[in-house]
Amino acid sequence: MSKRVFITGGASGLGKSLALHCARAGFRVCICDINDERGCQTLLELQEAGCSEAIFRRCDVRSEADLVAIREHLETIWDGVDVVVNNAGVAQAGDVEDVSLEDWEWVIDINLLGVVRGCKVFTPLFKRQRGGHFINVASMAGLLDGPGMGAYSVTKAGVIKLSEILDMELAPYNVNTTVVCPAFFPTNLGESLRSTNPDTDRFLQKAFARSPISAEQVAQQIFDAIMEPRFWLLPHRKEKYLWWLKSMVPHKTYRSIVSWLVKRYVSKGRKS
Ligand SMILES: NC(=O)c1ccc[n+]([C@@H]2O[C@H](COP(=O)([O-])OP(=O)(O)OC[C@H]3O[C@@H](n4cnc5c(N)ncnc54)[C@H](O)[C@@H]3O)[C@@H](O)[C@H]2O)c1
Repeated sequence: MSKRVFITGGASGLGKSLALHCARAGFRVCICDINDERGCQTLLELQEAGCSEAIFRRCDVRSEADLVAIREHLETIWDGVDVVVNNAGVAQAGDVEDVSLEDWEWVIDINLLGVVRGCKVFTPLFKRQRGGHFINVASMAGLLDGPGMGAYSVTKAGVIKLSEILDMELAPYNVNTTVVCPAFFPTNLGESLRSTNPDTDRFLQKAFARSPISAEQVAQQIFDAIMEPRFWLLPHRKEKYLWWLKSMVPHKTYRSIVSWLVKRYVSKGRKS
């Protein structure tokens, strides 16, 4: 039987690319999102891609009840789910002291607690099935230390730690976990941005555009991890090297490297 995959935030960017990839491979695909217009459009594209069992459901990852309703629906019509991709996310920028507590709570509720809810709601099903695969979309921001992105980075570091613990807890149940840590790539993520710095939007658009890889390429790597499960997925080579460097050099050296890179990035951005 074809694999059954559920993807949060599947109406745009990475989630949509992955959904289409899975559809072309003959999977049954359910996406959820809070953007109805893009959700319906993606549903049409999934059907055009040959997915006979494509589903779009409005669901806010801030609501446990929404996620429970989807799990129950999928248990009824598909008799279970093989892969849950906790992908929905938003962007937040600003120095730690400048970001309001309201914005901290907003980004934590979606980016971190949204993934916690997805894992909590689907774990009992995976345990009963004695099999399943969580794919949690974090970011290199959760591994590296970009100044001016504290709240976002904290949520992604939380997703990484959550995934590490979950992988240990669920190993006896034949449940795999993958944590995806991309650096920048072009999507609609900038649309959700809340920032205390008026230049951030411009900076982000440039960073997205400069990415050596696309959402489709990140989706391809996630698809490969579904077919052959692995825990870490770090699609950007340069940032992966920086992460390795962080663990190898003294903290002071790492801090100087980051300061130099940030200055270079900002001055390059001003010139272009
Ligand atoms: N684009 C990048 O450079 C980048 C880099 C690293 C990690 N990521 C992560 O990739 C994931 C996907 O983001 P993207 O870049 O494809 O952005 P995107 O904005 O194109 O897609 C995110 C989707 O999530 C949906 N969403 C937002 N809040 C939601 C909620 N409360 N409930 C349900 N759906 C919600 C949005 O409507 C949107 O369709 C995010 O977790 C993001 O943090 C992106």
